[in-house]
Amino acid sequence: MILFNNQFTERDKVNIDMEDRGYQFGDGVYEVVRVYNGVCFRMESHMARLKRSAAEIGMTLPYSLENIEQLLLKLVEKNAIHTGNVYIQISRGVAPRDHQIPANITPILLANTKEVERPIYKIKEGISCILTEDVRWLRCDIKSLNLLGSVMATQKANQLGYGEAILHRRNMVTEASSKNVFMIKDGTIKTHPANHLILDGITRVEVLDIAKEKNLPVVEEAFSTDELLQADEVFVTSTTAEITPVTKIDETIINKGQSGPITQMLQQAFEQRIPKHGDGSSVSLFFSIGQK
Ligand SMILES: Cc1ncc(COP(=O)(O)O)c(C=O)c1O
Repeated sequence: MILFNNQFTERDKVNIDMEDRGYQFGDGVYEVVRVYNGVCFRMESHMARLKRSAAEIGMTLPYSLENIEQLLLKLVEKNAIHTGNVYIQISRGVAPRDHQIPANITPILLANTKEVERPIYKIKEGISCILTEDVRWLRCDIKSLNLLGSVMATQKANQLGYGEAILHRRNMVTEASSKNVFMIKDGTIKTHPANHLILDGITRVEVLDIAKEKNLPVVEEAFSTDELLQADEVFVTSTTAEITPVTKIDETIINKGQSGPITQMLQQAFEQRIPKHGDGSSVSLFFSIGQK
């Protein structure tokens, strides 16, 4: 079952108009929310970012934020999602193709859910990344449907046999194609400031909050690709990837190809914040896979 505007329906019952501006211009915004044990994680933060993204492109949401949240929770319930993702997109709507936005256009909301396991192997063992030029636009703070820059960077990484692409503008690291990037040097955690060059990830904020709670030094400052390659530890974050260690960047092996101690400390704290069933029956990542 999917959500089409405020109706629950089957996917094959929905007609997408060719002149939907989301389809023709990437004119719209989206969110991905993680579900753990049937509970939407940081739903309020995702809804706040959805509202902000829409406002930044001058789009009024079709329903109140509370209403949208209720519809998404209902969708998760109807599809009996245990551990998975909720995808929601709101496009500008349907109008004859023209760059100019028509005055009276009604946004179109679509959402679906998917049962997806946590990427436990990658969370433990890490991933490899390429470094590549960030060729995206200058409003990466908006979670827009227009993802071609990210898609091309991801494709390049995959074709080279790597898991992700870490992006840089003139050798200053911004973020990864669909994740935020953190590096650790001499105990200090560094990540790009939340400005127009990156998406201010919900998981990024979670990591910053954990670091503060644990009194770990954090600097929100851009760092160079050289600094990154000399880091003691590197990890990337996202709603679906959580905190994933980066063990290789291009040809450089990071931390002997292993997840580092600060990364693991952050992962454990993150793990504790994941919604659990009231009976405490959910299996812990660190319990189930053991710790290095
Ligand atoms: C470009 C980009 N940066 C960062 C993130 C991480 O954001 P979040 O932690 O909210 O999933 C994403 C997530 O899709 C992304 O696409």
